[in-house]
Amino acid sequence: MGLDDHRSGSYQLCPSILSADFNRLGEQIQTLEKAGVKWLHIDVMDGDFVPSISFGMPVIRSIRRESKMFFDVHLMVTEPGRYIQDFVDCGADSITVHAEACEDLDRTLQMIRDSGVRVGVSIKPATPVHDISHVLEDVDMVLIMTVNPGFGGQKYIGEMTEKISELREIIEEEDLSVDIQVDGGINRETLPVVLKAGANLIVAGSYVFNGDIRSNVREATAIMRNYTDPFE
Ligand code: DX5
Ligand code: ZN
Repeated sequence: MGLDDHRSGSYQLCPSILSADFNRLGEQIQTLEKAGVKWLHIDVMDGDFVPSISFGMPVIRSIRRESKMFFDVHLMVTEPGRYIQDFVDCGADSITVHAEACEDLDRTLQMIRDSGVRVGVSIKPATPVHDISHVLEDVDMVLIMTVNPGFGGQKYIGEMTEKISELREIIEEEDLSVDIQVDGGINRETLPVVLKAGANLIVAGSYVFNGDIRSNVREATAIMRNYTDPFE
């Protein structure tokens, strides 16, 4: 991995393997890597915080052996503090927890920080930015859910655009180095919208994995390039 790939402020496409063909997971991850993708978004669902169950440590551990990508683990898990060390041990480079899922959010974020990986906090569509304003100094990124977490392939919730802009303003005003990640319903129509609002880390599941992965990645990165300063 290049040194710059996880510095704050960089624009990254973060394909979500929730939409992968699990029968060909390794091969599809290799295709992403060859297409120049640096971040891999890994959705862990526990059937409690969200209705569905996805996958956990064994899957992450085995793809870690074959991939050098930055593993961005999104925990849709109740009281995720119970599992931070497990996810670090199986290869996470970043761990994001939901504000709504933690009894003591500050403590959970501190656990992630102490484990040496990047720290992310996420909010569901119904949770206001205000609810996490007190932890902005303690995180590397905020993940704004642009659909209700639980399933891939849902429609982008239009009201979330305003939330992204609101957070971008706070980050600029307070001169924080915090990335804004968006997740859910990103496609060729909504991608320009979230970039314009101020998101820089873009999760995409069905957009990347439905159809030809290489050409989908090419299209998404071409759109993103319009929003990135080439001399940055
Ligand atoms: C939703 C997950 C997303 C999901 C996105 O709960 O957190 O990462 O995979 O899928 P798309 O991009 O298809 O909406
Ligand atoms: Zn996700």
